[in-house]
Amino acid sequence: SGQAMWGGRFSEKPAELMQAINVSIGFDKRLAAQDLAGSRAHAAMLRKVGVLSSEDEAAIQQGLAAIGAEMDAGTFPFREEFEDIHMNVEARLRELIGPTAGRLHTARSRNDQVALDFRMWVREACERTHGQIQALQRALLAKAEQHADAVMPGFTHLQPAQPVTFGHHMMAYVEMFGRDASRFADARARMNESPLGAAALAGSPFPIDRHQTAQALGFDRPTANSLDSVADRDFALESLAAGSICAMHLSRLAEEIVIWMTPQFGFVRLSDAFTTGSSIMPQKKNPDAAELVRAKVGRLMGAFTQLSTVMKGLPLTYSKDMQEDKVPTFEAFDALELSLLAMAGMVADLQPNVENLAKAAGSGFSTATDLADWLVRELGLPFRDAHHVTGAAVKRAEQLGCDLPSLPLSELQALNPQITEKVYEVLTPEASVASRRSYGGTAPDQVRAQVRRWKEILG
Ligand code: ARG
Repeated sequence: SGQAMWGGRFSEKPAELMQAINVSIGFDKRLAAQDLAGSRAHAAMLRKVGVLSSEDEAAIQQGLAAIGAEMDAGTFPFREEFEDIHMNVEARLRELIGPTAGRLHTARSRNDQVALDFRMWVREACERTHGQIQALQRALLAKAEQHADAVMPGFTHLQPAQPVTFGHHMMAYVEMFGRDASRFADARARMNESPLGAAALAGSPFPIDRHQTAQALGFDRPTANSLDSVADRDFALESLAAGSICAMHLSRLAEEIVIWMTPQFGFVRLSDAFTTGSSIMPQKKNPDAAELVRAKVGRLMGAFTQLSTVMKGLPLTYSKDMQEDKVPTFEAFDALELSLLAMAGMVADLQPNVENLAKAAGSGFSTATDLADWLVRELGLPFRDAHHVTGAAVKRAEQLGCDLPSLPLSELQALNPQITEKVYEVLTPEASVASRRSYGGTAPDQVRAQVRRWKEILG
């Protein structure tokens, strides 16, 4: 040990600082399973095309299987002296099966090897988000179905705008997370080409079968340009972009939970399971999990910025800069996955306070638009005139300290004598939401229709 793989050209040992900046095993050990799978497919292919003998391939496969067992058992010796996961596996293989281990690296380079391993890791991460996003959507869907009728204020500028239902609000996020899932699926489909066999950068003089290894490793096809194969990391960037958008959506929902939980809003409760207390203030129940989900988006956007900064301006093909692709990507997906799981837990735990929601839904003159619409529909006023009359009604109600539904008819008739008692039918939040039956609107029937559609999609 101690002699590097490229020892032939070197007569002195690397400086300690050289090793310190170069070593990656501390983080790229997370590619162990992918590295073994890639090596096993490569060895099988080398035998099939006659580059490896059956005996050598059998010895290599047996050794790789033993290494896999060591990794499963947690006994595999990860050693810094062997720099990265690829050379750790090869060094261990040599210890287990002897010099035959050296035949595995025929027609392969660490450049296509790491491109393959990392691509498979990112591919799996994208696949994992699929189930996690769906679990969150199911939690939102359950709340939406349960509270399809519960009126609450809809906001623009965080000012009361028009009444909506709690179910409709939950379904808005179901749509957003649905697009997030499809972005991950798109990224996965685009990245699903195997770089193995690009070798160092120019391809291989051996009669390798790249289609075979691609198929064995679950890829749709091999990549078509060897330079591109070892030089690009856009698959990771695209996944981090999808992850950043998803985390941005999570942070908005988290922020709403934080706001809704304040006593000033009092819209929802979270149980003790998703809140924490204060060490000094006995009355506190803090939404820490929501706050942390709100914050984790920084890791995703940071990772995208970090990796795109590493990649920008790099000349083709591989440069060691690219070893810096892994930490941000691993940490970003860790943060995203934890956030998705925590948010699904929080949504399931969330109890809307329907009385408070209804009270808030009716305040702030939230049905002013309904009054204006009524004047247009029933009295034939142009919308601009109706808007003006309604504005005057709001002003009058504010002066009297009441809300629109309790503004006396005489006051309304002072603004337009044709207004009748019937107008009060449209001034409650319940009537307001029920009237918005346009496709995708907040009427409870429309919300239920969307819940049914999504239940079918999610199966
Ligand atoms: N540890 C390296 C990485 O993560 C593997 C590839 C090294 N290739 C090389 N030619 N030095 O990028």
